[in-house]
Amino acid sequence: MGKFIVTIDGPAGSGKSTIAKLLAKKDDFVHINSGAVYRALAYVLGENLGIEKLSNLNLELSLKEKSIRVFCDGDDITDRLQSEEIGRVASKIAQIGFVRDYVNKKVRDLAKNGKFVIDGRDCGTVIFPHANVKIFLVANLNERAKRRALETGEKFGDVLRIIKKRDKEDSERDIAPLVKPKEAYEVDTTSKSIEEVYKEVKCIIRRVYDNRNR
Ligand code: DC
Repeated sequence: MGKFIVTIDGPAGSGKSTIAKLLAKKDDFVHINSGAVYRALAYVLGENLGIEKLSNLNLELSLKEKSIRVFCDGDDITDRLQSEEIGRVASKIAQIGFVRDYVNKKVRDLAKNGKFVIDGRDCGTVIFPHANVKIFLVANLNERAKRRALETGEKFGDVLRIIKKRDKEDSERDIAPLVKPKEAYEVDTTSKSIEEVYKEVKCIIRRVYDNRNR
C-alpha cells in the first residue's frame, strides 16, 4: 500500500496522543509520538545539552505493538517520561535547531512504509509537510490542564502553570513553532468525549483515504 501519513498537531492536553493511540488500536496505524523523543532528550541530557553530548548519545527508537519505545544505552526509558517537569525541559530544548534536526531525522527514519499517525507540534508543518491528512486539535486551557493532571496525578494548579508557559514557548519560538498547518482540519475537543473526537477524526481520514484509493 506504500505510505500513508496522518499528522496530529496541537498544544499539550488537546488529546493528540489519546486519539493517535486509538487509531493505532482500532485502525492499524503505527503511532509515533514525536514529543517522546524531546522528552527522552530532556530526561537523559537535561536543559543544558550541547551538540557534542547529543551526537555521542546512544538513543534508539523501536516499534512495539504499533507504538514507539525509546531506549537509551539499551535501557527502555519510555515509561519514565510523562511528568510535567520533563515536559517543561522538553519544551525548552525544543527551541534549539540541532535538537530539532536530531528528532526530525529519528522520526522520519521510523516512518518508512505503512500507515503512520504522528503527533507533536510541527509534524504537519516541518516533519511531514506532504502528509496525506493533517489534523490540528485544540481545547481550552482549563480542560487541557485538567486532563493532564488526571493523567500524571500531578496538582491541577501546577500543571496549569506549566502548560500555560509551554503553550507560549511552543508557539512563539523561532524554529518550527506550534501553528496550524495550512491544509489542516481543526477539531476542537473541549467538552467532547474521546469517542466523539475519535469518530470525527476517523471520518476525516476515511474521506481522504477513500478518495486516494478511488
Ligand atoms: O507532546 P508532548 O507534551 O509530549 O511534548 C513535549 C514538548 O516537546 C512540547 O512542549 C514541545 C516539544 N515538542 C516539539 O517541539 N515538537 C514536537 N513535534 C513534539 C514535541
